[in-house]
Amino acid sequence: MFETVEIDASLDLFVEIEKLKKEKNAVILAHYYQVGDIQDVADYIGDSLGLSQQAAKTEAEMIVFAGVHFMAETAKILNPHKKVVLPDLRAGCSLAEGCPPKEFAEFKASHPDHIVITYINCSAEIKALSDIICTSSNAVQIVNSLPKDQKIIFAPDKNLGAYVAKQTGRDLVLWNGACMVHEIFSQQRILKLKEQNPEAKIIAHPECEEPILALADFIGSTTALLNYSKKSEAQSFIVATETGILHQMQKDSPKKTFIPAPPTTNCACNDCPHMKLNTLEKLYLCLRDGQPEIIVPEDIRIGAEKSIRRMLDISVQLGL
Ligand code: 13P
Ligand code: SF4
Repeated sequence: MFETVEIDASLDLFVEIEKLKKEKNAVILAHYYQVGDIQDVADYIGDSLGLSQQAAKTEAEMIVFAGVHFMAETAKILNPHKKVVLPDLRAGCSLAEGCPPKEFAEFKASHPDHIVITYINCSAEIKALSDIICTSSNAVQIVNSLPKDQKIIFAPDKNLGAYVAKQTGRDLVLWNGACMVHEIFSQQRILKLKEQNPEAKIIAHPECEEPILALADFIGSTTALLNYSKKSEAQSFIVATETGILHQMQKDSPKKTFIPAPPTTNCACNDCPHMKLNTLEKLYLCLRDGQPEIIVPEDIRIGAEKSIRRMLDISVQLGL
């Protein structure tokens, strides 16, 4: 399944993908961290909330999910009778990997009177162990929607959890997980960049650590960051999130300047190695061949669907 497959070099993949989409009644849902070519062939590009809302309402027969495993899995959980494919099944997530079901079940059992709010960046098993799923665009509102005295476990991202705790003034019991990309930004190097670009606004994703968030003029999900960059009068931005989002920011505001926030070393660690496993070639192949396919055991799917639907329902009530 992972071996290199030869593709006829004379094929125009953009044209072929359009043809296959119609032939197979398929929809391509892509996250902003995908490579530019994939974003350009997608029917919908969005943040995790937008993508799950699209997955919940699509009438297509096949969903090609250009993102990571937990995202495609969420689409499958909401569409058990549809085919959901992911260009590269190895596209995981450090947050999902850092929260194994057995340990999480024990953690949950040690806090019996707590409700479990879990960030969507987790496996189906963890979703089935949770009460409500959230994303970075609705986590604060979901916590605020619960009674003030309700005890809450927030998992698996301790950075998003700390941000939500600060915004809501609530005490949250946090699972000790983090995103390998958002933990890598250097406060010192961002400050240096700001000195060189004093007019630039610093915008950051809430998966970043607190010292980075403390520098930010605006904090939000990928969609919120994109919208802020479009509406803001500022002409330049230092962007503390995965670099894929710059493609759409630059497309939407061609005259503005977007500078990726630098990581602590000279690596390309602000590129998510999981997101970047997907390529246009692999997307073409999975659309053509209908695999690799996402499969979720039915007992886990039923439990996971409950917590995802709760998030979707609350989001409708909150107008998100
Ligand atoms: P959002 O696009 O929902 O802000 O999530 C960011 C992310 O890290 C997805 O893996
Ligand atoms: Fe996971 Fe971070 Fe990659 Fe998003 S950017 S998929 S949270 S490792």
